[in-house]
Amino acid sequence: MAKDVSEEVINNILFNYKGTYFASWVTSLQVVKDLEHMEVRESDVFLVTYPKSGTVWTQQILSLIFNEGHRNGTEKIENVNRMPWIEYNPNNIDFNSRPSPRLFTTHLPYYLMPRDLKSKMPKIIYVCRNPKDVLVSFYHFYKMIPPLKEPFDWETFFNLYISGRVMGGSWFDHVSGWYTHKDDFNILFMTYEEMKKDLKPAVKKICKFVDINLDEEAIDLVVEKATFKEMKQDPLANYIFLSNDIADKQRGVFLRKGTVGDWKNIMTVAQNEMFDKVYKEKMGDLPIKFLWDLNEENTS
Ligand code: A3P
Repeated sequence: MAKDVSEEVINNILFNYKGTYFASWVTSLQVVKDLEHMEVRESDVFLVTYPKSGTVWTQQILSLIFNEGHRNGTEKIENVNRMPWIEYNPNNIDFNSRPSPRLFTTHLPYYLMPRDLKSKMPKIIYVCRNPKDVLVSFYHFYKMIPPLKEPFDWETFFNLYISGRVMGGSWFDHVSGWYTHKDDFNILFMTYEEMKKDLKPAVKKICKFVDINLDEEAIDLVVEKATFKEMKQDPLANYIFLSNDIADKQRGVFLRKGTVGDWKNIMTVAQNEMFDKVYKEKMGDLPIKFLWDLNEENTS
């Protein structure tokens, strides 16, 4: 039986701004509001994702593509510092003093992005993942949230996710919002599953989009260093350094399983049917295809 999660518990860990929820232990309403006026450069690159869709993975790929020192191991800079989150910036990194090209990460919905994006048209890479695997990954991630002394049980979290009352807001709104407004931006859409299926062509696609020419050897190095196995033990990529008051390592890890189709191990038949119904209602005819399982290759 799902717990009745009162608004009080949700408001303890999140705050709502214009329909989207933010993690209150790592940011504030003022920080999010101020982003509207963030100075944007044409040469900037923004990685945009809904949480648990492959953000830290793509951070590693972009960090490797843009920095030879990251590829050959001569530079020891954590990915979070190479491409900081704009709305989660607890160390107050000064974005304006960074040399171009600047790389940024964000979970923002399209309508909360800096205003200058539409005039400067920087490059945006939007990575999305099938929402059932996002849900499962998110459920495990929530266990790491320090202010949540008692993590939500599966059924409770399922309901919160479906109704969009989680960090990042509704998956359905995030993905459909970015997708239907894609022509307003300079954007490359990628999916977690295409990266998982065959990383090399995905890396090449990203290189082409960001206009960086790497030879075959360098591409192979990017692919090798961005595998789940490599990243899991790479302290620059695996977020192990985060303090326990931001993400509690005793209770979980960022690189958990890294698979497609894990939802089948936890969702009940009834939950799956309900999910499909909501998916149909919310995503309608949007021509966006997801791979729900790498073996079956069934898309929807
Ligand atoms: P799981 O919890 O299903 O394992 P985000 O970075 O957006 O928070 O997404 C986290 C998810 O991406 C986690 O999914 C994590 O394991 C997965 N991930 C991270 N690096 C990966 C990699 N190199 N290959 C495959 N999956 C990866």
